[in-house]
Amino acid sequence: MVQAVLAIDQGTTNSKAVLVAPDGSVLATGSAPVGLSTPRPGWVEQDAEDLWQSVLRAIATCLSASTSSFDLAGIALSTQRESVVGWSRSGEPVGPVIGWQDTRTAAWCAQLPSAVDDLVRQRTGLRVDAMFSAPKMRWLLDQSDALVGTVDAWLIHRLTGCREHLTEAGNASRTLLYDTVRLDWSTELLDAFGVPRSALPDVRPSNAGFGVTTSVPGLPDGIPIVAVLADSHAAMYGQGCTQTGMVKATYGTGSSVMTPVDGFVESGCTLAWLTDRPMYALEGNIVSSGAALAWTADLLGLPDVGALVALAATVPSAEGVVLVPAFAGLGAPHWDREARAALTGMNSSTTRAHIARAAVHAVAHQICDITDTIPGAVKGLRADGGATVSELVMQTQADLLGRPVEAADVPEVSALGAAELAWTTLGTTTGWAARRSYRTFEPRLDAAARAGLRTQWAGAVAAVRVRPA
Ligand code: G3P
Repeated sequence: MVQAVLAIDQGTTNSKAVLVAPDGSVLATGSAPVGLSTPRPGWVEQDAEDLWQSVLRAIATCLSASTSSFDLAGIALSTQRESVVGWSRSGEPVGPVIGWQDTRTAAWCAQLPSAVDDLVRQRTGLRVDAMFSAPKMRWLLDQSDALVGTVDAWLIHRLTGCREHLTEAGNASRTLLYDTVRLDWSTELLDAFGVPRSALPDVRPSNAGFGVTTSVPGLPDGIPIVAVLADSHAAMYGQGCTQTGMVKATYGTGSSVMTPVDGFVESGCTLAWLTDRPMYALEGNIVSSGAALAWTADLLGLPDVGALVALAATVPSAEGVVLVPAFAGLGAPHWDREARAALTGMNSSTTRAHIARAAVHAVAHQICDITDTIPGAVKGLRADGGATVSELVMQTQADLLGRPVEAADVPEVSALGAAELAWTTLGTTTGWAARRSYRTFEPRLDAAARAGLRTQWAGAVAAVRVRPA
């Protein structure tokens, strides 16, 4: 009987379950979609119960798909970040999950004194923005008396039969409430955002153990939750991206670019994970990436993103068309959440294919905007996530970056990263990234053409800005 870790990757649009052997091989996978609603402009919600049920469906599909018999050694979690769930002490959700893209608290954030922003930078390496959890927690606590946490805490609570109220340090680092140097909730920040400590989970290192399964449909009781990572951080771990100079990009609903850094810095820093020591990373978070492709596919009446990319590939360029997908404002490095999306540069020869191509370019340009801010030489980029299956997206990324892009040969890098940390914690020798194969995309665009496209993009971004750069 083979030993297996069940890795659960709970993302914005679906939940995945992956059964992983100690050598990193995937025994079975399952996935289930999770709904998302936008009840008002700028509001992005999910249903906490639906989210949990999607995890259960993914687990059931995965476990029944395995052709070999297995013994579950543990569970590993990788979760969407910043989104906030509120629930009663008996484990019932008290309202919707407020999604990371939600900007309902933007005006509230904007009226906070600049001293709060300074404090946030000093303690967390982040900046005040409606994307992060603290303002969403404040909003939820204004509606009802609840326990609050990020999605990892919600899943831990449910997986343990509502016994544990725990969160993982890397997820906590995205709340704006966790002091990533002292590695504890910051009393000053709790006061600044008005979030009582008693509502929050206890924070544990990423591999410290998070309780055992209790009364979970389809799972035996007593399986330990061995490791928990935030999804983007799990991808960094899974990519073996642990040396400075290495950069990874995860292409999801949004995108996240991360590069390890030797110690805490006050700007754009995040706690990637906490094991025997903290691992810090510089990170840029893009709000609309896969979401921009999906929006454009919908606009053009195409069935899905695959059809959009196929249409984009029918023309050699976007012919001057630029899409700035600021549908929920702009994230890193522009941080202008009031900016509105724009489609520019069209003329009477513009076709649907050019617009499709502009959407592909938008995904890649946004990554380049962040890599441009990384100090030191970026030698190349390791890519993972949904969009990496597209040759066109990856080639465009290499072309606009002017550096090679290595796309992981497995779609589940976040789940595998969490599974790898779990297996390491269980005493198995891992280092799977070194054995993984990559599809390498070399840049083909000459420097002048690349510079031209980048300048065109920068002009379009400047035009949608509401806040000064
Ligand atoms: O920060 C948000 C991020 O964690 C969401 O990830 O994979 O659902 O786009 P994903």
